[in-house]
Amino acid sequence: MGNERYVLRDESFGGTLYDRKLLKHDFLYKDQIDSTAISINGQEIKSFEHWEAEVENLRTDILYSPIRVYIERTRKCNLRCDTCFNSSGVEPEGELTTDELKKSLDGMRKDNILDLRFSGGEITTKPNWHEEVGYAKELGFAVSVNTNGVFQNPDKTVEQLATLHIDQITISIDGNQEHHDKNRGRGTYEKSLEALKELKRRGASTRTNTVLTTLSINDPESIIQSVAPYVDEMAFFHMRLIGRAQGIQNRRVDFYNLVEFYNRMEILEKRYPNIRFFYKERAIQNTSIMPNGYGLRVGSPDGLTRLNLNNGGSLWAGGYTAYIDPDFRLGNIKDENYSLRQIWNNSPILESYRDFGQKLVERCLSCVELDTRCPGVNVEMELIRKKFPLIGNPNCIY
Ligand SMILES: C[S@@+](CC[C@H](N)C(=O)[O-])C[C@H]1O[C@@H](n2cnc3c(N)ncnc32)[C@H](O)[C@@H]1O
Ligand code: SF4
Repeated sequence: MGNERYVLRDESFGGTLYDRKLLKHDFLYKDQIDSTAISINGQEIKSFEHWEAEVENLRTDILYSPIRVYIERTRKCNLRCDTCFNSSGVEPEGELTTDELKKSLDGMRKDNILDLRFSGGEITTKPNWHEEVGYAKELGFAVSVNTNGVFQNPDKTVEQLATLHIDQITISIDGNQEHHDKNRGRGTYEKSLEALKELKRRGASTRTNTVLTTLSINDPESIIQSVAPYVDEMAFFHMRLIGRAQGIQNRRVDFYNLVEFYNRMEILEKRYPNIRFFYKERAIQNTSIMPNGYGLRVGSPDGLTRLNLNNGGSLWAGGYTAYIDPDFRLGNIKDENYSLRQIWNNSPILESYRDFGQKLVERCLSCVELDTRCPGVNVEMELIRKKFPLIGNPNCIY
């Protein structure tokens, strides 16, 4: 399983075509699908896996199942970053066992979920992480892993990561050496950069994640320069002021810092044509569902193209939701016979989350700042504004 670059998954309107190399999707109408070839954006795709599904009599306003599920495998971590939104550190009780995780992976494969992103905590601190991620690959998912790159036995862990042929490995780099080490601990920058270099040397598809704080936002150029030879993709995220990040509100950036950063990035990204950059975390992005002819409801990615499975098996619309508003807990995969489809189709809580995301996208679409200064706002940052009015949402001028 999993040798073809493309997977076509059946949907009520036709299909979702998933590119396991670029980790991106396109929707196709029924009449665009021929059993032997697909034509998309002028390109003919002759070779693909077809994941069939019974799509009659199903809801037609949502996808068959999420495209991607984020797996927060553990909250155990070898570091204690100041920014950490889920306050990872000591392993909490009740995390999924390997057997339970494998059952979840089997269930999600039956649900035709296309892509899994493992994160944490630090997944490489779990004794069976290698077996678990390998199992996900065997089942045919596109698989990516987010790690801090600080390993007890770097040679062994890099070797394990490289030989799993994971579709993307992300290492977090939170600024230059001084700023990264301030957030993550002395000596961590060198270790993370070394892991990134080694993984690239062994042919891995790599990405860095950078959280935007007053430390990291002012000099994106030096961050890009330091990692450019070793990355295929770079992502910059707003710092969610939840978890341990609540203790570093003084490192929070404001609207004007962000606008300046984005203007800078628009120039910088042209100098690095071989790197894919993600730096505008807008509600409107390529994983959102925009007004369309497929009959799908419009809204943010969380709950419409993605779901989150947390370390103990609980399910959430997005990765930060559990740490913002526990009322949005959707259930536990162990109580769902290891399938997400019942929750996906019938959960009133998920439906109210989708409503929230839809209103946000509609609001952004009618905002005069969208194509000018908008530094990006996503549904979870809006949830934070609602839940913690004092924190607010500096990213939205609205
Ligand atoms: C929680 S970490 C887990 C994976 C791994 N331990 C690491 O640090 O890369 C997942 C991602 O969340 C990012 N992150 C941490 N705190 C954040 C915050 N307050 N807001 C947004 N992203 C954050 C990290 O930089 C990392 O890229
Ligand atoms: S951000 Fe990652 S490395 Fe840092 S404490 Fe959280 S889980 Fe650990």
